[in-house]
Amino acid sequence: MFKIVVLLSGEGSNLQAIINQIDLGNIEAEIVAVISNRADANGLNRAEKAGIPNIVLEHIHFSDREAFDQSLAQIIDSYEPDLIVLAGFMRILSDGFVEKFQNKIINIHPSLLPKYKGLHTHKRAIENGDEEHGATVHFVVPTLDSGEAILQGVVPVKKGDTEESLAQRVHEIEHIIYPQAIQKVIGQT
Ligand code: GRF
Repeated sequence: MFKIVVLLSGEGSNLQAIINQIDLGNIEAEIVAVISNRADANGLNRAEKAGIPNIVLEHIHFSDREAFDQSLAQIIDSYEPDLIVLAGFMRILSDGFVEKFQNKIINIHPSLLPKYKGLHTHKRAIENGDEEHGATVHFVVPTLDSGEAILQGVVPVKKGDTEESLAQRVHEIEHIIYPQAIQKVIGQT
């Protein structure tokens, strides 16, 4: 069975979407562990409910990024995953970590990359008067939000949209494309 480790920091609605599609048989894989760098991440509860091993590794206890990433890599290695799925993992991974797991890490970013790398993507799309916005699932490379795209989901920017209303629309498309992108990667492996 294709093994997935999910890394997250917060709500975990994308994790939930992935769990749901695995349950429906639309993703031929198993989530072997969920790891959070925050103890209060709701994604941990979602993993627990689904019977998935969940681990907290708090970055605040480490002196630097490399030390945290080394511990993280050790835990991940113990699960021997085929794919590492970043689902709202709010930490930049060191080059060493990304290189170690080359072509094995994917992320979802809330913009139509290469547009709007980094933060505040919804605000920037509204301020620029874009008619379309969306999300991109991509492979992770050392340069932030720059790896090869696997799948994109497009949503309209509507008149009167606020950052919140647009973020919600993007979130809904994320829940559709992230599971699809994972199955696509599995099919190519
Ligand atoms: C999503 O908007 C994703 O694009 C970004 O982090 C958010 C995670 O949301 N990388 P959730 O924790 O899956 O609900």
